[in-house]
Amino acid sequence: MARLVIVSNRVAVPAEGSGAVAAGGLAVAVKEAFTAYEGLWFGWSGNIVDQPSDEPTIIDRDRIQYALVDLSPQDHREYYSGFANRALWPIMHYRLGLGAFSRSDYAGYSRVNRFFAQTLAGLIEPDDIIWVHDYHLLPLASELRGLGIANPIGYFHHIPWPAADVFNSLPASGDLLRAIADYDLIGLQTEPDVQNLTRNLCDTLRAIPLGAGSLMVDGRRTRIRSFPIGIDVAGFKDAAEKAASDRTVRETIAGLRTRKLIIGVDRLDYSKGVPERMEAVDRFLASNPDQRGNVVYLQIAPKSRSDVPEYEQLAREVNETVGEINGNTGDPTWTPIQYVTKAYARPVLAGLYRAARVGLVTPMRDGMNLVAKEYVVAQSGDDPGVLILSKFAGAAQQLPEAILVNPYDRFEVAEAIRTALYMPRAERLARWKPMVERMTREDVDWWARNFLSELENFRTVEREPPTA
Ligand code: G6P
Repeated sequence: MARLVIVSNRVAVPAEGSGAVAAGGLAVAVKEAFTAYEGLWFGWSGNIVDQPSDEPTIIDRDRIQYALVDLSPQDHREYYSGFANRALWPIMHYRLGLGAFSRSDYAGYSRVNRFFAQTLAGLIEPDDIIWVHDYHLLPLASELRGLGIANPIGYFHHIPWPAADVFNSLPASGDLLRAIADYDLIGLQTEPDVQNLTRNLCDTLRAIPLGAGSLMVDGRRTRIRSFPIGIDVAGFKDAAEKAASDRTVRETIAGLRTRKLIIGVDRLDYSKGVPERMEAVDRFLASNPDQRGNVVYLQIAPKSRSDVPEYEQLAREVNETVGEINGNTGDPTWTPIQYVTKAYARPVLAGLYRAARVGLVTPMRDGMNLVAKEYVVAQSGDDPGVLILSKFAGAAQQLPEAILVNPYDRFEVAEAIRTALYMPRAERLARWKPMVERMTREDVDWWARNFLSELENFRTVEREPPTA
């Protein structure tokens, strides 16, 4: 059996004997990919040290070997906080105004990718297939090829791929486009993402389309396809059903009394539209005074990337918005917005989703958004809640029965909240059923299997002896 080598910036090493992985779409999804393979998972240890070693720390746990490297403070600042999260992240999410490009950050990004490649190359065996994840590592295949690694290398991009004009505003865009063509297979979340990258490669690098997603770029063949990431449906459903006995879930439900719960769960990131969503809730309460005191909006938003200035600024803005709305609209018996920055374990979240009549998932832009999928899967089949979903989330392509909204239009979102709260059970069921069925078919295992069989298939095709 071929060995699978996964590479990602974040690696979720489970605590010994627990079998559990940290929360977060990438970590859970990647773990799932290992069910069919023996594997190695390579990436950053999460530690910042003055003198990182060239030798990775190796940990063996539950059939997976983890190889972890530390970063220096400069690497972390330039590669992770700088280029990955202040240049690539905003550009990929269409937020040109928030992009901060610096040559030294880009040099740090390139240096860390080279360091990852050099450290990883020594661990690669001839039959391995390599699967690289996310925007931190766009040039990794190119660096590995430079070191003579000829194994199949696939890349999955978890976030949006923007229109060419947006991507090309990044000063390093040409280098990155050339580098990405060194992957044998490039997976994106949606068809529009595939079109954006394909058009950009054809227009900017004169790539030649060969049909069925294959392209010839600078004499190398690559393939671009969409593979929408899914969730562990069986596991999440089970967690939601069992969560009623959890203390936090029980007490939250008891505290609601007859009030209906509206829930939002996001990493505190400007792409998620948290303050905009709060303003929509405020608008809803202003235009539906009879609903004051009858609903509670719970926003769970664990802090993220706090050493990046734009995230610090967002945290302040959300604090102010919550304070203003609660101060202006609440009273001693009712606080309209409950805002929590603590991270909850997935089983607790599953229970809270199930208790919520409305799931409010309104990112300004999102590669997929797994909260939308989790909310749907957590609902009870007797009396499901309603999903309000941004049309700019990749998940909207697979969940058209949700109430789809433009997150920039707080009047539209406010109206959607009203529609959701008054929606009769028959309509809620009619919308929910096809969504949960699709999520069950297109789960995380389906995603990983599709990607990996396509990457394996590439190897079979490439290695066939030439016919006479
Ligand atoms: C997004 C990205 C992941 C990233 C995660 C958490 O989901 O696609 O690659 O790991 O956010 O962000 P962080 O910066 O904490 O790794």
